Parts: sequence; C-alpha cells; structure tokens
Amino acid sequence: MSKSRKSNGWLVISFAILFLTIAYMIVNPPTNQELLPRKIDPKVMKTIEQSTETEPASGAERYIGNPDAIAAGKAEYDAHCAACHLSDARGAIGPNLRKRLKFGSTPEKIYESIALGRPAGMPAFGKKLNDEKISKIIAFIESLR
Ligand code: HEC
Repeated sequence: MSKSRKSNGWLVISFAILFLTIAYMIVNPPTNQELLPRKIDPKVMKTIEQSTETEPASGAERYIGNPDAIAAGKAEYDAHCAACHLSDARGAIGPNLRKRLKFGSTPEKIYESIALGRPAGMPAFGKKLNDEKISKIIAFIESLR
C-alpha cells in the first residue's frame, strides 16, 4: 500500500512538471527568431544592400544624347537585349521599344522595366547590369525613338 502511494507521488510530480512546461510554453511561446542570428555581420549586410540596389543612383536619363554613352549602351544592348528585342529594337520575342511603351516610356519607367523585369517574359537585369550600364542602354534606346 505504502509502495503504491509512493509511486503515485512520482506520477503527480511528473504531471505537475508536464503541466508547468505546457503552461510556460503558452505564456512564453518559443519563436523562430531565437534560432536566427540577432546581429547581421556588417560586411554581409553591405553585400546584401549592394545586391538589392536597383534604384537609379542619379537619374536614368543622365546619358541621353551623350554619343559615347550611346555607343557603350548599344554594345550592352546587343549583348543582352537584341536576342529578344532585335538589334534595331523593333521587337521580336520582346515588344518594339521604339513605340509608346506599355509600362511607361519615361527613362525612369524604362529603367524599372530593365532592372526589375516585367511579368510576361522580360527578365530582371538589376543584378547583371549595374546602374551605369542600364542608364547607357536607356540612352541608346532613346537615340532610336
Ligand atoms: C528573354 C527575352 C528578353 C530579353 C533578353 C530582354 N527582354 Fe525586354 N522584354 C521581353 C518581353 C517578353 C517583354 C514584355 C513583358 C511584358 O509585357 O510583361 C519585355 C519588355 C521590355 C520593356 C518594357 C516594354 C513596355 O512595353 O513597357 C523594356 C523597356 C525592355 N523589355 C527592355 C529590355 C532591355 C533594355 C533589355 C536588355 C537589357 C531586354 N529588354 C532584354 C523580353 C526580353
């Protein structure tokens, strides 16, 4: 008899511990954040920031009308864009870029189309081409329009 009372005592203690653990987890739910590093290495952070830099640094229109920039832009265009838009930009897989553009014809909107891509098959070039190259491509496209 005394033996079974003793084992009941352990049972009660086990349930009490179980209950307290559950109660603690309800009051203090574990969060995934505790598994993540709290502080990102500044060097890593800088790389992340650079890789997501798609905003025009200073005016997508700054090379328009500049002959050297247009020539450089044409070379980039031939390498990356002509396959879909043709080298004269009159369009094939991608639309004609000499006409009014669906997503906007201002240098800023064209920049957006190039850097971020567009849904129906226009790839995002924001990581492949830097701001300068994109702005020179815009100068080249504008020289045709
Ligand atoms: C793989 C084929 C492909 C390549 C490469 C490509 N494009 Fe496109 N592009 C497209 C397609 C398809 C669309 C239409 C997207 C849509 O309508 O959603 C498009 C859309 C665009 C638009 C927006 C047109 C509008 O009507 O608003 C611009 C600007 C543009 N491309 C410029 C470029 C430039 C500059 C390059 C080179 C850096 C380039 N594209 C490379 C296929 C391509």
